Amino acid sequence: MQPGPGKPRVFSGIQPSGGLHLGNYLGALRNWVRDQDKYDNIFCIVDLHTITVPQDPAALRENTLSLAAIYLASGIKTEQAMFVQSHIPAHPELAWILECFIPMGWLERMTQFKEKSGRERERSSAGLFAYPALMAADILLYDTRYVPVGEDQRQHIELTRDVAQRLNQRFGEVFVLPEAMIQAAGARIMGLDDPEKKMSKSLAGDNPGHAIFLLDPPDVIRKKIARAQTDAQPAVQFPAGTGVRNLLEIYRTITDQDWPAVEREFAAKPYSVLKSAVADAVVEALTPIQERYREIRADDAGLMRQLRGTADRLRPIANTTLQRVQHAVGLR
Ligand code: TRP
Repeated sequence: MQPGPGKPRVFSGIQPSGGLHLGNYLGALRNWVRDQDKYDNIFCIVDLHTITVPQDPAALRENTLSLAAIYLASGIKTEQAMFVQSHIPAHPELAWILECFIPMGWLERMTQFKEKSGRERERSSAGLFAYPALMAADILLYDTRYVPVGEDQRQHIELTRDVAQRLNQRFGEVFVLPEAMIQAAGARIMGLDDPEKKMSKSLAGDNPGHAIFLLDPPDVIRKKIARAQTDAQPAVQFPAGTGVRNLLEIYRTITDQDWPAVEREFAAKPYSVLKSAVADAVVEALTPIQERYREIRADDAGLMRQLRGTADRLRPIANTTLQRVQHAVGLR
């Protein structure tokens, strides 16, 4: 299959598994907002992936709406397509067919499965094991050209290409081959409590000082930054240690400056000056997002209507691909 004319289709999958943090925002979301007009974007809230590990039902419902609202509040335009994966049954239907063409060995090699199942391998769900097949279905249903992902997801994109090629070879051109679009420009934000580790939601579970969440109130943001790990130096020096460097990186990215400018601004300044500048910049960037978020969440029914409406619009596209595959393998 050749991709159609027009802007290249980009498919992003995001798990509704709890709040987004500053690392997600500065590392990815902010860039998508900036580049959105270059592409025909589909943002998929992948709730079927989220239930591969245990979820509280009420929390899953809330996280789904909250994630949609955060995306819109961050500047994703309503004309871009954002929908909930479980609203389009073609996703699990295609996933099943793909699972029948993916050798067990491919899934066993997935590092994400090894990490997430850990020592609980025998007790982890079959869904967690089959996760990459569902992700491949997400991507392939929409004749996707590019998939913006972090380095950790590259292996899943390779598997998607491999299974697509396998069906194409066997049955003729059924699928467009997607490519990973690894974000190069995005900032890599480290934990405030431990700047050796990338800021992550799971590490924030053990230490609330680890991450700033996009919906944290300003006083919480200021407190977290005030407590961020630095080092025993009295003031900013270059080359800076990892903790100070991380604060400078947050500042540099949010204020859209280059390193020399930031070095000039903070050289020899006490850490307290740096920290309050970073806190001001973060609060200033997040306040309008939080205001828009509250406006959107004031009308959850409207938000849900929008998500359902987009699913209604996309369902025929997904079904066309599904039917092409069903026909190719002899199911219709
Ligand atoms: N596995 C991705 C993650 O955890 C989420 C995801 C599901 C995804 N389906 C996708 C990402 C399709 C890109 C395309 O980050």
